[in-house]
Amino acid sequence: MTEARVILGLESSCDDTAAAVVTGVPGDARILSSVVAGQTDLHAAFGGVVPEIAARAHAEKLDTCVAAALDEAGLRLSDVDAVAVTAGPGLIGGVLSGVMCAKGLAAGAGLPLIGVNHLAGHALTPRLTDGAAFPFLMLLVSGGHCQFLIVRGPEDYARLGGTIDDAPGEAFDKTARLLALPQPGGPAVEAEAEHGDPARFAFPRPLLDRPGCDMSFSGLKTALLRTRDGLMDGNRLRRRDRADMCAGFQRAVAEVLAEKTRRALAIYMHDAPDVPLLAVAGGVAANKAIRAALEEVAHEAGANFLAPPLRLCTDNAAMIAYAGLERLALGHVDGMELMARPRWPLDRSQPALLGGGKKGAKA
Ligand code: KG4
Ligand code: ZN
Repeated sequence: MTEARVILGLESSCDDTAAAVVTGVPGDARILSSVVAGQTDLHAAFGGVVPEIAARAHAEKLDTCVAAALDEAGLRLSDVDAVAVTAGPGLIGGVLSGVMCAKGLAAGAGLPLIGVNHLAGHALTPRLTDGAAFPFLMLLVSGGHCQFLIVRGPEDYARLGGTIDDAPGEAFDKTARLLALPQPGGPAVEAEAEHGDPARFAFPRPLLDRPGCDMSFSGLKTALLRTRDGLMDGNRLRRRDRADMCAGFQRAVAEVLAEKTRRALAIYMHDAPDVPLLAVAGGVAANKAIRAALEEVAHEAGANFLAPPLRLCTDNAAMIAYAGLERLALGHVDGMELMARPRWPLDRSQPALLGGGKKGAKA
């Protein structure tokens, strides 16, 4: 068995500045601290993440997040075995801020530097939280990501499909904006949907008529816009109409995700994994209707279902520190030549996913 290590992780690829300390061995690790400083307020007036503002805020906050994470863990930098940092994919200014900060820390303390793929951080979270065994199927569904991955090892991923345009969280956020609901849109749309009729409007189920696991969510938002404009009474929208549109939209997203997950599970189950597992990560996994639909599909296929706690499903640095721990155990470390990458598909046999999205690259 590998010796337990202590890893400091840094994350700054989108709009959360985060630092964390994780200790243990692959498949059996614990979080000693996890600090996340969000930037929602800084971007609120702009209706999306402004890359330059994000990068500046990361550069300002990284040091204090690192100090807070070490403090909370009761450790000094000299107690750490390696520094892991998100080296992509993401908004390049933010990724660069993190990589530069990590290089400074590693060089100053004479520690190994480990570049981590942000998506690997999400994908390996079930191993951090539950010691999940390889291979498992991961569905990443957030404001910036949407893809199915068979996770075979810390550096071995097969992407079965993903969104070709918007991510589902992005679609929830845009829907909220169209219906004058607050941001982030997911929780607001979900709350409205609770008292709406999901069957009243026939919203499309994009790409269900095509084989494979790719998804598309941008047409759904256009259909909703048209429906809304047909219902508007002057500038006003009736509460009932709004609730019904939210319920119809949410049902459409849940059905698309459920059907595509069914297909992804069939491919994954083909290799007869010992302990079949469908795991989800990303903010959209917080949605009760979507989570229930995915859980049902997993059980239908004979697989277990796992949704890690929300604070570890959304962007954080504990997942980066943990992914660093897995890479370190393989002896894979980087030097000062580590580069920040805006795009970085996990599955090296596949091209980067299309769609820039409000939060930058999707793979
Ligand atoms: O993973 P996350 O915190 O950040 C990234 O996108 O990286 O996910 C945030 C996204 C937002 O688009 C938000 O609207 C969505 O997750 N979200 C939800 C819910 N809670 C958050 N979407 C649907 N239902 C929810 N309850
Ligand atoms: Zn993320």
